[in-house]
Amino acid sequence: MELRKLAAEKGLIYGTAISATSIEGDPRFADLVLRHAGLVVAEYDMKWQHLNPSKPEDDNYGPADAIAAFALDNGLVLRGHNLLWYRSTPHWFFDLPSQQEMERAVVAHIRKLAERYRGRVHSWDVVNELIEPANGRPDGLRTAAFLDQMGLDYIELAHRTARDADPNARLVVNEYSVELDSREHEARRAALLGLLERMQRSGTPVDAVGIQAHLPVTGGAPFSASRLRRFLAEIAGLGLTIQITELDIIDRDVPADETVRDQLVADTYGHFLDAALDEPAVKMVVTWGLSDRYSWLTNSRRDRLPARPLPFDADLEPKPAFDAMVRAFANAPQRPADEDGWPRSRITVQS
Ligand code: G3I
Repeated sequence: MELRKLAAEKGLIYGTAISATSIEGDPRFADLVLRHAGLVVAEYDMKWQHLNPSKPEDDNYGPADAIAAFALDNGLVLRGHNLLWYRSTPHWFFDLPSQQEMERAVVAHIRKLAERYRGRVHSWDVVNELIEPANGRPDGLRTAAFLDQMGLDYIELAHRTARDADPNARLVVNEYSVELDSREHEARRAALLGLLERMQRSGTPVDAVGIQAHLPVTGGAPFSASRLRRFLAEIAGLGLTIQITELDIIDRDVPADETVRDQLVADTYGHFLDAALDEPAVKMVVTWGLSDRYSWLTNSRRDRLPARPLPFDADLEPKPAFDAMVRAFANAPQRPADEDGWPRSRITVQS
């Protein structure tokens, strides 16, 4: 029962975030990825601060190349994350003397990264996490890196540069905290929809929306399936496809008991995926890791117990969350696969 096959039967691509370290240094984990994932994305190895930490000439592309090779050698779809992100922008960028120098650096970086894997990346998160209503702008856009430094046109500049560098890649606006029924998430959804409409009006190339879906089990706002469905339908109404890009479940605020926690995590996977997969425009589900052995959330609990956010535990054994994903894929309505002519050797039902 492979997740990638169950997903492919419904026209979906399922995959996971990985790091070069995890697939090169942990053969059992790499095998689990190959068994269940039809797509991989770099959790951090393709980020600017990792590629060029101290100067533009660094070019630490080894780990990123390893992930691209792992995808290509194993017939996996490769997702690109990310071309720009305020949190992974190298410090030397902010020391550049002018807006013009910054624009030149951004264009050079996007060209270098996107052209390096040209024709092999299914989608790129172009400017990751553009929205931040807390910054106080009427349009709800994030100000620090890059708007403050480069002005509003940087978004179109980044997207047009990415399109030129790799015309085959889908260009994605990837956001978090747009999934739940709360005032904060509502504000973020409104800002995102407004941005997408402005991008389309200005002719800025954008093809899809990424919904990160780092979801709280409890302690977060309530989940409303109907509100999520309505939001996804609004995105689809713009003619955009939807990718669930970083799905994991934050079990920070629930009891320590593993059986209780695992069931709450599984229920959260099930409720979210049941609602999200009702939308035919949802074409992809990516979990932000496959096993609790490798998660950014590992040390997120106050009681210092390791978190259990993912479908497989740290011993690479399936958890109730895995069963919940199996059920969600099995119950998902059939959708036309994202017509992209990708070499889908590992994401077809026959593979
Ligand atoms: O592996 C190195 C280690 O060798 C080094 O000693 C250590 C100290 O510098 O760093 C280690 O790399 C860290 C890496 O995580 C692995 O733990 C990086 O510094 C650290 O920046 C990186 O954090 C990543 C974070 O994004 C920032 O890039 C997380 O793994 C990753 O899960 C997280 O993912 C983000 C998405 O990109 C965007 N959406 C939110 C999501 C969660 O924050």
